[in-house]
Amino acid sequence: MSRSPRRIIIDTDPGQDDAIAILVAVASREVEVDAITTVAGNVPQPLVTDNALSLLALAGRQDIRVYRGCERPLLRPLYTAEYVHGPSGVDGADLPDPTVGVHSTHAVDLIVDTCLASDDGMVTLCPLGPLTNIAMAIAKEPAIVPKIAEILWMGGAFDEPGNTTEVAEFNAYVDPHAAHVVFTSGVPLTIFPLDVTHKALMFPRHVEALADHATPVADAAAGMIRFYEKYDIDKYEIEGAPMHDPCVIAYCIDPTLFSGTPHHVLVDTTHEETIGNTYIDDSAGEANATVITDVDAERFFDLVVQRIGSL
Ligand code: BDR
Ligand code: CA
Repeated sequence: MSRSPRRIIIDTDPGQDDAIAILVAVASREVEVDAITTVAGNVPQPLVTDNALSLLALAGRQDIRVYRGCERPLLRPLYTAEYVHGPSGVDGADLPDPTVGVHSTHAVDLIVDTCLASDDGMVTLCPLGPLTNIAMAIAKEPAIVPKIAEILWMGGAFDEPGNTTEVAEFNAYVDPHAAHVVFTSGVPLTIFPLDVTHKALMFPRHVEALADHATPVADAAAGMIRFYEKYDIDKYEIEGAPMHDPCVIAYCIDPTLFSGTPHHVLVDTTHEETIGNTYIDDSAGEANATVITDVDAERFFDLVVQRIGSL
C-alpha cells in the first residue's frame, strides 16, 4: 500500500542547488509541495522569487504558489553569494520567464496561516536557505510550533570547516540569529550540514547521466550544475559539486538514504570571527536536533537523476 504524500513547504533562496531540490520535489509523488516561500540569501529579493517562479514554469508546475519572504536577515545586513551562483543566482541555464505572478500574501503569513489551519504535527518545513522566514513565523505566532511535524534544514557545519568563513556555513552565517530562534524553539529539527552535503558530490558521470535525458528540464539542470560546480571544484580541489539542498528533499522522499544522531546544537551569534558557527554541546541541554552526517551517495544520485529526468 502506498503512503500518502508528505506535504511540505519549501523555503528557499534559489540558487542552483535550491533549483535542483525544487525540481526533484515537484517530480516526486512521495511529496506534495504546498507552497514555495522565498528568502533573501544566495541573491537578493526579488531575484530569488523570480527564480522560483521561473523554475516552476520550466517544470510546468505553475499550480504551486510562490510567496515572497524576507528581504534581509533579522539583525545583520544581507550577505549574498553571487561569487558562487552568478549574478542571477541560477547562472548556467536560460530559464523561461515566469508565467504567473507571486502571491500577494507574505511568506511569513503563509507559513503561520498554513500551520494554524493544520492539525498538530502535520506541517513539514524544508528551509534551504537562511532561517529568517521560519524564525519570523515562530516569533510572530509561537502557536505554530506544535503544528510542525519537523523542520528539515540545510545548514551548519560541525566537524567539517565552514564554506563562508573558516567555521561558518553560508545559511548559518547569513542569519545566525534566526538559526538561534529555530534551535531554541522546541520544534523537531533535522539538520543537513556540510558534514553530509560534502559527501553528496555530483561527479561528471552523474551530470552526464542527467544530460542524457535531453529534455528541456534536464538540459537546464545540467547547465546550472556545470556553472555551480566550478566554485567548489576550485576551492576544495574536488571533482564535483556538493548537492547541498537536494539532500533535504531526498530525505523527505527516502529517509533511509541518510543517517545521523540527536544532539544539543547551538549557533554562535556574538563573536564576529566565529559568528554563524554551529556546534554541539550535549552538556548544555537535551538534544534539540538530529544532525545528519552520512548519505548513500550513489542511491541519492540515482534518485536525483531519475526524478529530474522524468520531468
Ligand atoms: C548553502 O548555501 C547556499 O549557497 C546553497 O544554496 C546552500 O543552501 C550551502 O552552504
Ligand atoms: Ca539554498
